[in-house]
Amino acid sequence: MRIRSYRPHDAEAVHRICVATGDAGKPAAGILRDPHLVAYVFADPYLLLQPELVFVAERDGAVLGYVVAALNSPEFYARWQLEWAPRFFTSHPASPDADARDADAQLRTLLHQPRRLLSADLDSYPSHLHINLLASARRQGAGRLLLEAVFDELARAGSPGVQLSVRASNTGAQAFYRAVGMNRLASRNGLAVRFGQPLGGVDHSVRENETPVRHGHG
Ligand SMILES: CC(C)(COP(=O)(O)OP(=O)(O)OC[C@H]1O[C@@H](n2cnc3c(N)ncnc32)[C@H](O)[C@@H]1OP(=O)(O)O)[C@@H](O)C(=O)NCCC(=O)NCCS
Repeated sequence: MRIRSYRPHDAEAVHRICVATGDAGKPAAGILRDPHLVAYVFADPYLLLQPELVFVAERDGAVLGYVVAALNSPEFYARWQLEWAPRFFTSHPASPDADARDADAQLRTLLHQPRRLLSADLDSYPSHLHINLLASARRQGAGRLLLEAVFDELARAGSPGVQLSVRASNTGAQAFYRAVGMNRLASRNGLAVRFGQPLGGVDHSVRENETPVRHGHG
């Protein structure tokens, strides 16, 4: 298995893998009437808005897994609302009063109001990521290599830290994040568990008349 940067022709494979693994590693079709919704929220916007932070795992020319990330979560979601969400106004409208048990309606709302996905600790961990591998590609070290690739790129881009959320029931993924050395962060509810990785990056986006501030942990 080889890890490489994303190329535009990988978009279909990334979307397909997200749909095939979007229910904590199982096909999203098991929980969604429209399984593509999971990729509209958790994969495709990253390919459009931050393709330089996407890496894929490939074997024999076939893409079997990926990691996507956002450098600055609030800025990323602001761009998402302007550049990604509008194309879904008619086909997948938001339903803000959605029944909490209707997963399709919940995802349609997130598609139009992505800031609902913002977590705490944004000063220390402003970046976030999502990682998914097909079942045939798991436990062969690709997940660890994908994380290393995206951590390096985020640090290079100046991120002080990256975080992610994982369903409390997804114990395999939690074991993975612990095994790669990520820190468990406090969670607001019992349904999700958060992990963070300090990256020690320096924010280079210093505005005029501002004293440079060093973020990070080292
Ligand atoms: C979670 C996931 C990304 C891990 O990637 P991976 O390539 O399988 O993980 P690696 O092979 O790099 O594993 C590194 C170490 O993590 C630990 N680990 C990984 N998966 C594990 C599991 N299911 N159970 C227990 N430990 C696990 C092990 O210590 C492993 O080392 P080892 O195989 O030498 O014992 C992958 O299994 C996956 O895509 N799962 C389905 C989708 C998903 O749940 N995504 C995360 C949503 S937040």
